[in-house]
Amino acid sequence: MAGVCPASAIAGTVMTVLVTGANRGIGLEMVKQLQSRGMDVIGTARKPGEAAELKATGARVEQLDVTDADSLAALARRLDGVKIDMLINNAGIGGHTAASFAETDFTQLDKTFAVNTLGPMRVTQALLPHLRRGEQKTVIQISSRMGSIEGNEGGYYGYRASKTALNMMNSSLALELGEQGFTCVVVHPGWVQTDMGGAGADITPEVSVKGLLDVFAGLGPGDNGKFYDYQGKKIPW
Ligand SMILES: NC(=O)c1ccc[n+]([C@@H]2O[C@H](COP(=O)([O-])OP(=O)(O)OC[C@H]3O[C@@H](n4cnc5c(N)ncnc54)[C@H](OP(=O)(O)O)[C@@H]3O)[C@@H](O)[C@H]2O)c1
Repeated sequence: MAGVCPASAIAGTVMTVLVTGANRGIGLEMVKQLQSRGMDVIGTARKPGEAAELKATGARVEQLDVTDADSLAALARRLDGVKIDMLINNAGIGGHTAASFAETDFTQLDKTFAVNTLGPMRVTQALLPHLRRGEQKTVIQISSRMGSIEGNEGGYYGYRASKTALNMMNSSLALELGEQGFTCVVVHPGWVQTDMGGAGADITPEVSVKGLLDVFAGLGPGDNGKFYDYQGKKIPW
C-alpha cells in the first residue's frame, strides 16, 4: 500500500469520517477507535433514539437507513456544507440463510441486495458532494471474503452474491472516481464476534477494527479498486 495519510490531520485539517451502521458491532467499534485516533466522526444509525452506546462516544449521530431514499436525501441536506474525508460503508445484513438453492426466498434475497449492495452505492452517491469537499476522498466498502468467487465454499447465496456485486460496483466506482483523486477500496474485516458473526467468530471487533484502521491509514492512490483483509492482505476476487 502506498501510504499517504498515516495521521488524522492533513496540513493541519482534522479528518472527518462518516461510518454507517455505527450503533453496534464493527461500526460502533470503528467510531470509538477513529475518535481515539483524533478524527471527527459522524456515526449513523437507523434509530438514533435507541443508539445509547453510539451517543455515549460523543460522535455526531445522524439518522440513516441506507435503503430509504428520503432518509438519504435528508442526511445529505443536514450535512450540507460539511466535508467528509472518508466514508465507511459498514451497514450490512446477513440476510439470506436458506440451506439450499431450492429453499431460496427471493424476498429475503432482494432485501439483502438492497442493504448490502445498493445501500453503499446510494450512500456514496448521496454524499459525493461532501466527499469532493474532503482532502482525502476515500470510500471504504466493508465487504466480505464471502464475496470472493475464487474463495467460494458454497451456501449463503444472497449474502455472498450481494458482496460480490458490491465489489464490482466498487471496481467501477474506482475506475470513474480514481481519475478525480478518489481512493475506493473493499475490505474484509475478518470473521468478527458481533451479532452477525456470532460469539464463536475468530476475532473481536477491537482486533478487526485496529487492523482495518491501520490499513486505511496506509491507503494511497495505488490502492484504488483493491480488495484487502483487516491485515492488509490482498483477497482474490
Ligand atoms: N461480523 C463478521 O464476521 C463480518 C464478516 C465479514 C463482513 N462483515 C461485514 O461487516 C459489516 C458490519 O457487520 P457487523 O458484524 O458489525 O454486523 P451487526 O453487528 O449485525 O451490525 C450491523 C449494522 O448494520 C446496520 N444496518 C442494518 N441494516 C441497515 C439499514 N437498512 N440501514 C442502515 N443500517 C443498517 C445495523 O443497524 P440496526 O441495529 O438498526 O439493525 C447495525 O448497525 C457488514 O457489512 C457485514 O456484512 C462482517
